[in-house]
Amino acid sequence: MLNFEFYNPTNLVFGKGQIAKLKDLVPANARIILLYGGGSIFKNGIYEQVTDALKGFDITEFGGIEPNPHFETLMKAVTLIREKDLNFILAVGGGSVIDGAKFVSAAVKFDGNPIDILQKHIRIKDNVIPFGSVLTLPATGSEMNSGSVVTIKATHEKLSFGGPALFPQFSICDPTVITSLPKRQLQNGVIDAYTHVLEQYLTYPAGAYLQDRFAESILQTLVEVGPAVVDNPDDYTLASNFMWSCTMALNGLIQKGVPTDWVTHMIGHELTALYDIDHARTLAIIGPNLYKVMFETKKEKLAQYGKRVWNIQGDDIDTVAKQAIDATISFFDKMGMNMKLSSYTTEYAKTADFIEKRFIERGWTTMGERKNITPDKVRQIVELSY
Ligand code: NZQ
Ligand code: ZN
Repeated sequence: MLNFEFYNPTNLVFGKGQIAKLKDLVPANARIILLYGGGSIFKNGIYEQVTDALKGFDITEFGGIEPNPHFETLMKAVTLIREKDLNFILAVGGGSVIDGAKFVSAAVKFDGNPIDILQKHIRIKDNVIPFGSVLTLPATGSEMNSGSVVTIKATHEKLSFGGPALFPQFSICDPTVITSLPKRQLQNGVIDAYTHVLEQYLTYPAGAYLQDRFAESILQTLVEVGPAVVDNPDDYTLASNFMWSCTMALNGLIQKGVPTDWVTHMIGHELTALYDIDHARTLAIIGPNLYKVMFETKKEKLAQYGKRVWNIQGDDIDTVAKQAIDATISFFDKMGMNMKLSSYTTEYAKTADFIEKRFIERGWTTMGERKNITPDKVRQIVELSY
């Protein structure tokens, strides 16, 4: 097992009816900015639950945060907070709104141009506006981690940042919020969380037995509940297991003591920035092809995954590992993922060139758990996905 530190200060409040606890979780002197997205919270009753719980608090509302939140939009919230001297951010939404809150939290007191947080990948250690969240879409794990991804619309860049000051103070995870989610978003949530686990698990054996079992149990739970929850989002048992799996997939626990990859996400972010493809769908396009191109360095864990998660039998590592990739593709297909880039854009043929060049320009030349995913490997992975 590799060395690690494990710090996670988020107070996670989980379960039916928990949004009412907001009144105890938000600091008494809070002058709140309530951040939300395109308005789903007004249709599904979440807005009422939040405002009922916060009667008597000073609340300024800021909506319109788009999926894959834009720097340009978030800067308007930064201006509002500065103008009205607000001191607490409440994000009510999915990963995009919570990620947006993290950016705003870091940007308000940032010394310099906040675009640098993204373009210079600045680690945020202090000087933030505290924030909490009410999660409305299980997928990203943003409710219990300190990372965020923001798009600069002007340059078509989707860039990640984070730091120890960017954990939510609290997050309320009420699984009943998923009943209003469109099928497409439920499918996305399952595949995003599933890929988060694979990014932290499909690397090389590191003697981290417990970590491997944690990862496999999240994968098995998502395989068990994923297809069913899409058809029955009002089944509380399915909804709660889905939501908790998503949080556990990316709250830092399973990455401790193990190597991690994250290149599927790095390439996926480019596909969203270029073609506006849903985050999870970019992962389904890229992940299986990355496992194929990097097969030699990942095959031991691929075989372990095949045996333990998919119950594939056999002693030949190469065969079991290949079948594990096939089983993953079948699962993604069952979850409604279209894995061909050409189904999303007619301009697909220039993608590999563009991404390879961009990664070289950014100095991203040695990536993945063994630092052996080079730009030419990225090109092969993207070309395979056409
Ligand atoms: O904007 P509204 O109107 O609220 O509608 C949203 C949005 O259109 C809708 N929605 C959310 N909750 C709903 C609902 N509709 C009905 N009922 C509800 N209860 O769903 C749509 C998608 O929302 P979004 O927040 O964009 O989805 P998701 O949670 O998948 O977040 C995706 C973003 O998170 C980033 C992604 O890159 C992407 O930008 N990620 C963040 C991570 C992190 N912070 O750790 C890690 C992930 O890998 C990911 O990169
Ligand atoms: Zn993701």
